[in-house]
Amino acid sequence: MQKILITGGAGYIGSHVTKELLKRGGYDITVVDNLSTGFAETIERLKEHYGDFKFIKLDLSDWKDVQDLMQRGKFDAVIHFAAALVVPESVENPLKYYLNNTANTAHLIKASIESGVKKFIFSSTAAVYGEPESIPKTGITEEAETKPINPYGHSKLMSEQVLRDAAAAHPGFKYVALRYFNVAGADVGGKIGQSTKNATHLIKVAAETALGKREKMYIFGDDYSTPDGTCIRDYIHVDDLSAAHLEALDYLEEHESDVFNVGYGRGYSVKEVIDTMRKVSGNDFIAEIAPRRAGDPAMLIADSSKLKNQTPWRPKYDDLELICKTALDWERKL
Ligand SMILES: NC(=O)c1ccc[n+]([C@@H]2O[C@H](COP(=O)([O-])OP(=O)(O)OC[C@H]3O[C@@H](n4cnc5c(N)ncnc54)[C@H](O)[C@@H]3O)[C@@H](O)[C@H]2O)c1
Repeated sequence: MQKILITGGAGYIGSHVTKELLKRGGYDITVVDNLSTGFAETIERLKEHYGDFKFIKLDLSDWKDVQDLMQRGKFDAVIHFAAALVVPESVENPLKYYLNNTANTAHLIKASIESGVKKFIFSSTAAVYGEPESIPKTGITEEAETKPINPYGHSKLMSEQVLRDAAAAHPGFKYVALRYFNVAGADVGGKIGQSTKNATHLIKVAAETALGKREKMYIFGDDYSTPDGTCIRDYIHVDDLSAAHLEALDYLEEHESDVFNVGYGRGYSVKEVIDTMRKVSGNDFIAEIAPRRAGDPAMLIADSSKLKNQTPWRPKYDDLELICKTALDWERKL
């Protein structure tokens, strides 16, 4: 049985990956989370519906506690989600991001290597690519230049660098960094979902507006060089993204460390997403045009062919209506 440590497992994506591991079985799972943006209730729901695991409330900045836990736990693998991830906040309070996302990650990597962890899966982000000048029709590949435009993106790219250097110096330690594009939707089983407070994620905001939790929502810019003038993004269902983590764990059994984009390779505009949410909810809610936000590229689409070519990962929920519907169903439960 593989012993796995999951950081940030009380959060949105970490809880869905924990669910997938519990469903697959054969893992001895420990989740740590400081519950800053995650929820104890999510842990309870996971245990109630998907199976048992250990939960420890712990802050990754308590380095001594982390080190003790890892020395005692003798984990085979670490899946590291814990981070702060609000881009405007990262501009106002960059040190929070460098300390939580980079320094705590570097320490977790050190404690992992010292305690004999062999595999490390890291939540990276499309934010490492910044604002690409041009994007091929088939999407951004992992070879594209990494040029973050905010402290959040830098904090994540720096962690990738720490991983690369640490793995080169410690041959028994391997990692996969998954660069997620726009993650959306909720557990197709309907038991967990995104509970983030004051979320800025488009599909969650649209679901909240469709249910009247918000009076209206905003479209930030309708004068981009895209067919309908609004930004285009690659939305991936959280259960498909989660499956990529299980593939990454398997991949490291036979392969060396690597970096993969995770998306569908297809984009939808903000207006298309809103129209889809209106359709699945049956509510013609208000979406008001507002000025552009700084640092929003017109289009971000993943080329995920590397992940598809090198692992058996195949998306199952590449369907915007299904993504919106699962998000809406979860929002109703909240
Ligand atoms: N949501 C997205 O669209 C998206 C896109 C790209 C990358 N990511 C990355 O995915 C990961 C998970 O994001 P999410 O959307 O699930 O966010 P989330 O806020 O729901 O989850 C993060 C979890 O980490 C915990 N945490 C934060 N700092 C901690 C610390 N110091 N010690 C212990 N626990 C801590 C939080 O309480 C929370 O439960 C992050 O690393 C993020 O950068 C997310």
